[in-house]
Amino acid sequence: MVIILDFGSQYTQLIARRVREAKVYCEILPYNARVSAIKSRHPQALIISGSPASVSEEGHPDCDPGIFSLGIPILGICYGMHLTAKTLGGEVKSAGKREYGRTIFAAKKRNDLFFGLPPRFTTWMSHGDYVSRMPPDFEVIGSSNNCPVAAFRHKSKKIFGVQFHPEVSHTPKGPDIFHNFLFRISHLSPNWTMASFIKKEKEEICKKVGDEQVISALSGGVDSSVLSVLLHEALGDRLRCIFVDNGLLRAGEREMVEKTFRKHFRMNLLVVDAQKRFLKKLSGVIDPEKKRKIIGEEFIRIFEEEARKIGQVRYLAQGTLYPDLIESVSVFGGPTSRIKSHHNVGGLPEKMELGLIEPLKYLFKDEVRLLGKELGLPEEITGRHPFPGPGLAVRVLGEITKTRLDILRKADEIFIAEIRAANWYDRIWQAFAVLLPVKTVGVMGDARTYENVIALRAVCSVDGMTADYTAIPHPLLGRIANRIINEVKGVNRVVYDISSKPPATIEYE
Ligand code: XMP
Repeated sequence: MVIILDFGSQYTQLIARRVREAKVYCEILPYNARVSAIKSRHPQALIISGSPASVSEEGHPDCDPGIFSLGIPILGICYGMHLTAKTLGGEVKSAGKREYGRTIFAAKKRNDLFFGLPPRFTTWMSHGDYVSRMPPDFEVIGSSNNCPVAAFRHKSKKIFGVQFHPEVSHTPKGPDIFHNFLFRISHLSPNWTMASFIKKEKEEICKKVGDEQVISALSGGVDSSVLSVLLHEALGDRLRCIFVDNGLLRAGEREMVEKTFRKHFRMNLLVVDAQKRFLKKLSGVIDPEKKRKIIGEEFIRIFEEEARKIGQVRYLAQGTLYPDLIESVSVFGGPTSRIKSHHNVGGLPEKMELGLIEPLKYLFKDEVRLLGKELGLPEEITGRHPFPGPGLAVRVLGEITKTRLDILRKADEIFIAEIRAANWYDRIWQAFAVLLPVKTVGVMGDARTYENVIALRAVCSVDGMTADYTAIPHPLLGRIANRIINEVKGVNRVVYDISSKPPATIEYE
């Protein structure tokens, strides 16, 4: 395995993605991880990330200098290169002007890190500092017009540094550089595959659970579906899945879950019809945070009740993913503010004193999709857009009633069916309809109408943290609007949301 030391670069997760795409397992640790913690994981190579900080500043984030004596190959990227230079006796200066963007890189030595690459290739630079004096026993292996030391290596030890970012797609030869570092230099094997992951996880789950029972909350979303199928493969009927129909689901969702998991996978699935309960609790509530809180709490209550009925349960399975787990390092300190209280199944384990099973906790979202495919889940589930825990409650703005939920469900169904038919669904990160809390005047035949407005939202994103609206062609938007207004009673106007995140968010509440 490979350890990536995170100095707070916006690209750290991309480094991990590149390593895993090369079928090598890796983990991200915060920059100040002690050498003993790193050693205990037995890594065969180490990568030091970039950073928004600068090594020329007082008090810059530093690593345990012991990492350079571990004897394993090291690759420093940007700030990682500067830190390597500074720690090992070289010098780093501020360039005064930032170098940013595509840059032609000239490789001087092409027998290890740049093996098999052309003498010149395009790289992505984003730096204000540069190595002004090499540490002793290092040599330059590549340069660019503005940066004489754009890559270096130790003459006898396997320590490398690159000024550019091989992890971003703007460095098209980046994957080759990672291959060279992982296989040619570090002699790792490309054996981390989904099949090997499934085998190892199943063994670990069985060992941990023994003869006990496990419950999982199945929502029909990608993560909980993949989680449940993996656990079912390992545990069979000792896995009990609970699906709560809270009345805030999309059209056909409950039927799809029953068909897929009960009929196809023959899983032990309990469907709890709690529609009335949720609607009653939400009646008259319009504050978004209150809605989220009520739904989260009610969910926990129902889950507890059902688990009690099952009895004898020792473990709860959760679909925690790696991005939820990575300690996001803030090299400048300072708190991050809470934008929305996200609802997953948080709060359950403490209340129920259950042991946790989180087999997906080292996977990224797209790896979960791959895992789902490997486990035989239909594309209809593995390729689904994300859906928030509080469901349609945060898409019916204002008061939540059955009538308003039904209006939204129908409009949303039409929107999704049309973008699927036009082959747009897979190009969009997330698309959905929203019922706005306003009515507007319209005209139908000769009569005045005073009805609801539906907003359509479709965004492109990589991780949901930032997003841009998708430029769905106008004729397609026109067709969708027409169908919604004609087919959904209670709607006389459809608008398309063209805001990006930030400053908007993806969901409306
Ligand atoms: P926002 O609206 O914050 O959404 O831009 C970012 C992503 O998170 C999803 N989302 C949630 N997912 N529980 C979830 O599991 C939640 O409470 C929740 N709220 C928002 C949202 O759909 C988008 O993909």
